[in-house]
Amino acid sequence: MNKLFSHINIKNLELKNRIVMAPMCMVMADEKGYAKDWHEIHYATRAIGGTGLIILEATAVESRGRIKDGDLGIWDNSHIEGLSKIVNSSKALGAKVGIQLAHAGRKCTAKSETIIAPSPIAFDDSYSTPEEMTKDDIKAVINSFKEGARRANEAGFDAIEIHGAHGYLINEFLSPLTNKRRDEYGGSLENRTKFLIEIIKEVKTVWPENKPIILRVSGEEYAESGNHPEDLVNIINLVKNEGIDIINVSSGGVVPADIDIYPGYQVTFAETIKKGTELPVITGGLITEPEMAEEILKNNRADFIFLGRELLRNPYWPLEAAKKLNQDIEWPYPYRRAKN
Ligand SMILES: Cc1cc2nc3c(=O)[nH]c(=O)nc-3n(C[C@H](O)[C@H](O)[C@H](O)COP(=O)(O)O)c2cc1C
Repeated sequence: MNKLFSHINIKNLELKNRIVMAPMCMVMADEKGYAKDWHEIHYATRAIGGTGLIILEATAVESRGRIKDGDLGIWDNSHIEGLSKIVNSSKALGAKVGIQLAHAGRKCTAKSETIIAPSPIAFDDSYSTPEEMTKDDIKAVINSFKEGARRANEAGFDAIEIHGAHGYLINEFLSPLTNKRRDEYGGSLENRTKFLIEIIKEVKTVWPENKPIILRVSGEEYAESGNHPEDLVNIINLVKNEGIDIINVSSGGVVPADIDIYPGYQVTFAETIKKGTELPVITGGLITEPEMAEEILKNNRADFIFLGRELLRNPYWPLEAAKKLNQDIEWPYPYRRAKN
């Protein structure tokens, strides 16, 4: 039995395989963050192709939380309708659908927005210097994650993913490289984790108990005094009892760094986090071969495999992978004659 195509239940979420579409910004929303036909077609195509869990791109919980103009938004009730169309079509085609709730923090490049971060340090010369967040800003952002989660539930999403990776706002609080605060949100690892804990606590007041919450982290920050996989284990162990069900392990993006990337370059980070937290993990990064995915899963190094660019190139990767691994899966009815 191939593990890539084995079913798994996480709370009420039943997945038909271990293939996860990584969140990928499409920069195709309008200037107010509304979803377009593009999004519906783009995600539905991956649903037809057999992806088990689609995680929608970084979707901003505040307009100043957008990475770029063109990002999807979930900061207003009027965003729900467009998002629910994406959910309904992809679900009808057999996929489960999650959404990444995001705030860009100091990496917001959307025009006419005030940029905020835990500390007033720019990412690099090409970015503006953010304003240091006041306690009121902190409260407002925590509330906007909660409101985002409520809207995500109303839109019908099966899961939410809290974006705690890639040097965006939550990661900026978690990392000693970007968080130089002297109040209770900065300093020790416990203090740096407080913002994330408060977000999860608030989200849990509106997000149904039977639907999973995923947390995406940068498992390695590629700077000596930044966070490393063992630090992430400690951070996750502080938050997991608040109600995190799955960890999606990525890396980098916190400070400019040269990264040696190769197929599976993030797998050992995921492995360390899985062992240290005993939570299911999603791993990926330049993975294109089903045999490699199978090795990672069978050796219990991770529980799910995310595919990003490979699913952009080939939305039918899961169908192709099943064929390569000799796995009999249910094909979309109109495609069945192509199965053999
Ligand atoms: C076009 C593009 C957009 C991306 N947008 C996001 C995003 O919105 N949120 C996120 O966490 N990662 C984002 N990523 C990173 C991917 O989720 C993934 O981690 C990365 O592409 C590595 O996986 P891959 O080698 O399979 O592509 C993006 C990557 C690409 C290529």
